[in-house]
Amino acid sequence: MRKGGLSVFDRLKEELDSIMERDPAARSRLEVYFLYSGFKAVRSYRRANWFYRHNHKFIARWISQRARRRTGIEIHPGATIGKGLFIDHGMGVVIGETAEIGDNCTIYQCVTLGGTGKDHGKRHPTLGNNVMVGSGAKILGPFTVGDNARVAAGAVVLDEVPPNSTAVGVPARVVRVNGQKPSSLDQIHVGDPVALELCRLNAEYDKLVKRMCDLHPELRLCSGGESANK
Ligand SMILES: CC(C)(COP(=O)(O)OP(=O)(O)OC[C@H]1O[C@@H](n2cnc3c(N)ncnc32)[C@H](O)[C@@H]1OP(=O)(O)O)[C@@H](O)C(=O)NCCC(=O)NCCS
Repeated sequence: MRKGGLSVFDRLKEELDSIMERDPAARSRLEVYFLYSGFKAVRSYRRANWFYRHNHKFIARWISQRARRRTGIEIHPGATIGKGLFIDHGMGVVIGETAEIGDNCTIYQCVTLGGTGKDHGKRHPTLGNNVMVGSGAKILGPFTVGDNARVAAGAVVLDEVPPNSTAVGVPARVVRVNGQKPSSLDQIHVGDPVALELCRLNAEYDKLVKRMCDLHPELRLCSGGESANK
């Protein structure tokens, strides 16, 4: 059976190889196939998702709950997941119904892709391609984590994360964009332009007064003028 040009066997090989590339501890495809709970959970999800899309919601949930008991990983069958998802270690991972995950993402143990409880409809996050979510991180809400972004271990992300950036902390903040500290790109904490211009004018004024005083010390401006004495 071929899907999109690749046989089922080729797809399986591709998934196993993508895990081998990302896990230095993986010794062989056989090991990944039989022993990796993340691999098992994603395979179960693919079956459950087929039933979900064909409107057999009960069977879909039954498969996903059975996988949860066996692997400790709960992926709702309604989630949308691209190829090459690697859930490393896995225990405690929860992926919600309206979550979307791009290609080649890596997720570590105890990660939640969940809702805040405040949204309806689309309530869970969307991860772009090649996103890494560190152990224990919680990403909550219907926003996007951009391509190649990294979410640090233990972070609680409540807002959009731009592509190619790193988000850390609780609540998470972006600490790297393309490997650079974003302080130079900070669009929020910039100085007030009017206040900056007033300071500049004030300094110019002080300089002029001082010059006048040097040239004409008899002027009244110099005796009382605070600025002139600076
Ligand atoms: C975030 C992470 C991916 C590194 O990304 P990076 O883009 O290379 O970022 P850096 O290492 O340059 O760190 C950037 C800043 O975030 C801080 N930081 C890194 N990880 C952090 C974390 N988990 N929590 C809080 N701050 C963190 C760094 O101290 C650094 O601070 P600074 O700006 O004051 O120097 C990595 O630290 C991480 O958390 N990986 C998770 C891996 C994991 O879960 N492994 C489990 C295996 S079982």
